[in-house]
Amino acid sequence: MGETIRFGISIDDGLLERFDRLVTEKGFINRSEAIRDLIRDALVEQTWEAGDEETVGTVTLVYDHHVHDLADRLTAIQHDHHDRIISTLHVHLDHHNCLEVLVVKGKASQIKAIADSLIGVKGVKHGKLVMTTTGRELG
Ligand code: NI
Repeated sequence: MGETIRFGISIDDGLLERFDRLVTEKGFINRSEAIRDLIRDALVEQTWEAGDEETVGTVTLVYDHHVHDLADRLTAIQHDHHDRIISTLHVHLDHHNCLEVLVVKGKASQIKAIADSLIGVKGVKHGKLVMTTTGRELG
């Protein structure tokens, strides 16, 4: 972590009032912590837009394992990307439904492609990619 710098921000009073309500509602300890959080979020988003930096994401899938071939197809795609999928969690939610969470590490564009190929498999009830960060360079 680097040196802490203080700086002033000019802002419309109405906007600041709304921001202060958000700070309270979200449980931030103060404005500074909320602003740091927003900055980190924007930087993570920029990394994902750039596409070529190494980052980390999680892919969450919910599907019915009784659907013909579905579990096999999802497993085959995961094996195609075994070098980037670093961990998986499988929960048998009930008699039919499975929940899988995959941790994927690689370039943002590669992670997006893997997520799209899994979420796009016919029969997947819900799928979501959470685009997060390796945590490096975020202070
Ligand atoms: Ni299952």
